[in-house]
Amino acid sequence: MTLDDMKKAAAKAALEHVTAGTIVGVGTGSTANHFIDLLAGIKGRIDGAVASSVATANRLKKHGIEVIDLNMVDALSIYVDGADEATRYLHLIKGGGGALTREKIVAAMAKKFVCIVDESKMVDVLGTFPLPIEVIPMARSFIARHLVKNLGGEPVYREGAITDNGNVILDVYGLSIMEPVKLETELNQLTGVVTNGLFARRGPDVLIVSGKDGIKTLT
Ligand code: 5RP
Repeated sequence: MTLDDMKKAAAKAALEHVTAGTIVGVGTGSTANHFIDLLAGIKGRIDGAVASSVATANRLKKHGIEVIDLNMVDALSIYVDGADEATRYLHLIKGGGGALTREKIVAAMAKKFVCIVDESKMVDVLGTFPLPIEVIPMARSFIARHLVKNLGGEPVYREGAITDNGNVILDVYGLSIMEPVKLETELNQLTGVVTNGLFARRGPDVLIVSGKDGIKTLT
């Protein structure tokens, strides 16, 4: 079983959480793409989808799934998305694909956040995967200097990457994140930071982990 097979199996398991007659929030990345492709098979039973990125919106539309502006939606039953790292305590690092801010907004609005990962994403302590931070372009060096001085990690500018919101990303290497909720909160206080890729304050309600031995569901 390849990693991609595992991602697909996780996506399939998430489909069971989708309720007919509701709007589905959809994440970004290769695991979320499997979910979109499977969602297409039941598109007649849902009321549409909210996308967490332009790439996801395009894939949903290609399948003929109606993409609805989040501002037009007053309730979102579920949000399904992947992650770059996850712990058994349902804390995540996301944003490898650069969509962290919109992902965080859709996750915040959803009644149920279902995260789908293959087993390679599971860690005891977050931080081996560099933590993405979306920043306003003019604040990039200011924030990077602050992080070096106060955080101890090494921020690296993601060259050439512009987010869907017109901002840039710093990936912070070399962290060992013992208190994800605290760090998420502190980073978001820095002027110029749009948001960071820690999903700890609003982590998933359900974490589906797909491995060689099958599916595990953590809540
Ligand atoms: C995008 C994300 C993705 O969920 C994360 O990067 C995982 O991607 P993949 O499913 O391709 O491994 O946060 O911003």
